[in-house]
Amino acid sequence: MTHETHFGGSQDVEPEFARAVIAGLSASHKHLPCRYFYDAVGSELFEDITRVPEYYPTRTEAALLQESAAAIAARTQPGTVMVEFGSGSSLKTEILLAAMKDLAAYVPIDVSGDALREANNRLASRFPKLKVLPVVGDFAAELPLSGDLARAPRLGFFPGSTIGNLVPKDAVDLLAQFARQLDGGRLVVGVDLRKDLSVLTPAYNDAAGVTANFNLNLLTRINRELGADFDRRGFRHEAVWNEQEGRIEMHLVSRKRQDVHLLDHDFSFDEGERIHTENSYKYTLEGFRKVAEAAGWTVTSVWTDARDWFSLQELSRA
Ligand code: AVJ
Repeated sequence: MTHETHFGGSQDVEPEFARAVIAGLSASHKHLPCRYFYDAVGSELFEDITRVPEYYPTRTEAALLQESAAAIAARTQPGTVMVEFGSGSSLKTEILLAAMKDLAAYVPIDVSGDALREANNRLASRFPKLKVLPVVGDFAAELPLSGDLARAPRLGFFPGSTIGNLVPKDAVDLLAQFARQLDGGRLVVGVDLRKDLSVLTPAYNDAAGVTANFNLNLLTRINRELGADFDRRGFRHEAVWNEQEGRIEMHLVSRKRQDVHLLDHDFSFDEGERIHTENSYKYTLEGFRKVAEAAGWTVTSVWTDARDWFSLQELSRA
């Protein structure tokens, strides 16, 4: 059994975070990057979101993966290295790993060393023969593949519709970057689909208010890590469908006129002024095909659930 471990230290404060927050709050339309939702509390809250009844994506994708794992595995040569971008807890991945017969290695990439360590422990006991090579880093991290592993065919895995958080132009760039990292290999990506607003809107406005907490937690994180003085109660969660752009947008709306201080900067908010915190694009199959093709991929297989709510798509080099 070979489980190498290159875990980074725990969360240092990134100057990157400070720069991004100051830039976003200085813009005429205030915004914050959604990747900063996922501190320890935010990651827990996201896990809670996946369990609220209104939030269909996670359970729909997991069921779809159960149905399609054998087909995905059958299309995968023995000796393939599977690379997962943003693996988190690797929970969904276990469904796929259980169907995969002779992987040369599984390379989970995540910014959280803690999540990787926990996943590594679980995988080591469930799949004792699997070689796991965890990488702490962002999606652009260098793959720890040398010798025979460097020459093995690669299969990328990018579930969760994380691709939907990027504006299409950035989604194209990320898919093109994956193509380079996968070196001629395939990519299986989870893509959430357009659907009735009666399903879509409640998924981001759950009755228990978990998504609202997840959104507001960004302010708590900014207070803690950057010494700001946001009053969480001065803002409310808003999630709305933008028909023009084909996306759910999350905002934090100022309940009153107020000022916030952060590292020598003052930011003033009008009553009703919003901070745009997240986009979650919902694609049509044709819409996503265009994005994939612009990045040099061909869509070679699509699996959808019976209601066409979510898709797993296999991309191959054009
Ligand atoms: C993790 C990107 C799939 O966009 O649905 C959940 C994040 N935001 N509720 C999504 C999220 C609000 C989620 N993804």
